Amino acid sequence: MTTLRVLVLLSCMIIANAYRDSFSPEKQFSGSHYVQQVQKMQVFKESFAQLQSTSPSPSPVSDPKGSSGVYHVTSYGADPTGKNDSTDQILRAVSDAVRDPGNGNLYKDIVNLGGVRIDLDGGNYKISRPLRLPVAGRGNLMIHGGTLTASENFPSDGYLIDLSDPSSSGLEYYYEYVTLKDLMLDSNFRGGGIQVIKSLRTGIDNCYITHFNSFGIFVQGGHETYIRNSFLGQHITAGGDPGERSFSGTAISLNGNDNAVTDVVIFSAATGILLTGQANTISGVHCYNKATGFGGTGIYLKLPGLTQTRIINSYFDYTGIVAEDPVQLHISSSFFLGDAYILLKSINGIARGVNIVDNMFSGSGKGEDIVQLDERNSKFTNIDQVIVDRNNARGMNVKATVAIGTKNANDADDTSWTIDLNQALLFPDRVKTVHYSLIAGGDAFPNHALRNVTDNRIVVQSNVPVRANITVIVDQ
Ligand SMILES: *[C@@H]1O[C@H](CO)[C@@H](O)[C@H](O)[C@H]1NC(C)=O
Ligand SMILES: *[C@@H]1O[C@H](CO)[C@@H](O)[C@H](O)[C@H]1NC(C)=O
Ligand SMILES: *[C@@H]1O[C@H](CO)[C@@H](O)[C@H](O)[C@H]1NC(C)=O
Repeated sequence: MTTLRVLVLLSCMIIANAYRDSFSPEKQFSGSHYVQQVQKMQVFKESFAQLQSTSPSPSPVSDPKGSSGVYHVTSYGADPTGKNDSTDQILRAVSDAVRDPGNGNLYKDIVNLGGVRIDLDGGNYKISRPLRLPVAGRGNLMIHGGTLTASENFPSDGYLIDLSDPSSSGLEYYYEYVTLKDLMLDSNFRGGGIQVIKSLRTGIDNCYITHFNSFGIFVQGGHETYIRNSFLGQHITAGGDPGERSFSGTAISLNGNDNAVTDVVIFSAATGILLTGQANTISGVHCYNKATGFGGTGIYLKLPGLTQTRIINSYFDYTGIVAEDPVQLHISSSFFLGDAYILLKSINGIARGVNIVDNMFSGSGKGEDIVQLDERNSKFTNIDQVIVDRNNARGMNVKATVAIGTKNANDADDTSWTIDLNQALLFPDRVKTVHYSLIAGGDAFPNHALRNVTDNRIVVQSNVPVRANITVIVDQ
């Protein structure tokens, strides 16, 4: 085998040399040298051809890898037409790929497989068991380029690709730098698409994950699973689906820290993204998974008390965001369509460090508030640094934590002015600071004072009747 490789390499070098020679100007006229070279090459090619014809041709099944790091599943007998079950064949390819001795280590004891690839050869494979790596502690590998479909007897709690520990390895992290790329994963309403447990730096890129009934992608523990440029939907639809009411499942569940979902479309599922770990970032996500009116949620932040999530540049299409007791949450530069709104849900009444700024909302004119509170469990009482401001709305009611109110004198003298800001302010009965101005008409020079802010109703009074315009600026 080694000799053959050296010969192939040598003959390639000679061909390359001959090619370069024929085009190099100083060699143009050196005819004899050129002829010599061509003759040498001829001899070499013949000897190589001989060697090839006499040596047994390598069987693709016994040596599917050849000299490269690419493992073709079709070489292992997997059926790319999707008729026969290919579980065993693909698992053999996976097993060979990860048993490579590797090239040093990545994080701690994770073997660096040097970029081996399990190539699905553009086929559609039926599998009846999850594709699980036979050993943990491997990294730098890719599975790519084809479709996996769960068969009728696929376990309903399984995942088509399962990056979990096959044995009790006791490793701090199971896998590192595994890339799942250019894959269509069809869970056939039996289980989920991809599971990533306690892994580092996993890339899920350009995947189309459908027909899951649990989770499209489930991430637990570990760090830095980056889900990019992908499409997830339980049902294959382009919106306005007659079965939308019964959509179930969760497209992406991040039960770990430091992950990112970037440029992803979620086109059907009861919940688009469920976050139960901190420091995750969501950017460029389009959720039209299930309308809020039908009970769906675009992004559910179930991390009461420590949220630490950024949601930016995203598109909420008839389905919104729910955040339980948000602590450090940033939502900006996003577009909410179809009466979609943000719901802050009180668990223990905490909302601290929340920025909801610079978003656009568009609705049907029913007066739906852009940000709403769910205080059924308890009232929000522990509120600090919550800023809801600079959002704009069409056909919806803007809510904010900062509001300006005015009251103009209507040709009448008065001693008391009440400005009710409940329509504009997010939190009921909460005024932290008030600035007000009283502009008196004529020669009047009254004494005046801020008298009351209870229930978000700002009351200014003067000692004598006066024709005055009042402006108040309130911060919650
Ligand atoms: C499918 O399985 C049948 C029966 O084992 C076999 O004859 C056939 O060659 C297989 N087809 C493919 C494409 O592997
Ligand atoms: C109060 O506001 C009205 C409307 O802007 C204006 O016409 C009027 O002059 C103002 N009055 C005073 C006293 O500034
Ligand atoms: C402020 O207004 C509320 C509601 O109208 C009232 O119950 C309360 O007594 C007022 N407080 C003062 C200091 O006037």
